[in-house]
Amino acid sequence: MASVRVGDDVIDRDPAVQELESRTANLLGQEAGLFMPSGSMSNLVALMTHLRPGDRFLAPRHAHVLSHELGTAGWIAGGIPLELPWSHAPGVPSVADIAAVAAEEADQPAYYDLVTRLVCLENTHNHAGGYFIDWRLAHELSDAAHQAGWAVHLDGARLWHAAAAQSIDPAQAVGGADSVSVCFSKGLGAPVGSLLCASRGFIDRARRWRKALGGGLRQSGVLAAAALVALDEELPRIDWDRRRASLLAKALREMGLRAPEPATNIVLASPGPDSRWSASDLTQAWQDAGVGCLTMGTAVRLVTHRDIDDRALAQAIGLLAQATERFS
Ligand SMILES: Cc1ncc(COP(=O)(O)O)c(C=O)c1O
Repeated sequence: MASVRVGDDVIDRDPAVQELESRTANLLGQEAGLFMPSGSMSNLVALMTHLRPGDRFLAPRHAHVLSHELGTAGWIAGGIPLELPWSHAPGVPSVADIAAVAAEEADQPAYYDLVTRLVCLENTHNHAGGYFIDWRLAHELSDAAHQAGWAVHLDGARLWHAAAAQSIDPAQAVGGADSVSVCFSKGLGAPVGSLLCASRGFIDRARRWRKALGGGLRQSGVLAAAALVALDEELPRIDWDRRRASLLAKALREMGLRAPEPATNIVLASPGPDSRWSASDLTQAWQDAGVGCLTMGTAVRLVTHRDIDDRALAQAIGLLAQATERFS
């Protein structure tokens, strides 16, 4: 970050940002990429580029674009959301869910009826505990949307973990989506940064929306430099996050808690069914003990990442065990 050669990315481009954009687009099998300060802005710019005000979009229940971005998909991008159920797996709708909406909409539409334009998937699904979409199903879901004449945006903030869990290339995990956003600050350790990738024409239009939101960043090469380190040094070892999450879940079960085997790097833990304690009691106790975690629905979310090595994991498990004793 200190030694990178920078330019002005608002005027005539920054070389490190350009390198990051083209390398990431290549990795994801897309024509072009656009650097963004955050995953939320990547998603919002994608939705603004796909939708016109009043268009409907579908997304699985508790998708980040529905539940955790202040509703900007509605009041800034103008999208009218329709929740899809998790019929296939946690966080993952089925082809039939998409086909049912398409069939209903195709059935004698009136001029005043809502028109769907987009399906927004999330891989891995944060709220569902890091479940990934099987890459074959991802293609089937995209095909179902395309057949209905809709586009597909993939919120791939943790797409890297989805690819590692299936031992496939990130491009394969994109699963036929028309646009995809990824993050460098989740698991990979960069302090800031996300990238939106799609066709060249889409990215040219998205660049205008990014500027409109104040996301045109001038000497952003200092940030891109950290994201390049994330790609070079952290991405190859990302599957360790899943293995350590699995060890963490096992340790939590041994403490008498409910902690299903994680699919990737997110562990959802909750007090047993007969416990008089709630997830927020647990979160508070663990945070007081010095372990970072969040309440998510009825569970506590713990995430493994590049800074949690074996030693840090053992230390965290020790602290969690001590803080959990009073809950048994
Ligand atoms: C699935 C998903 N998408 C998007 C985001 C937003 O990323 P950011 O916090 O960089 O805005 C997050 C953040 O946790 C996320 O989990």
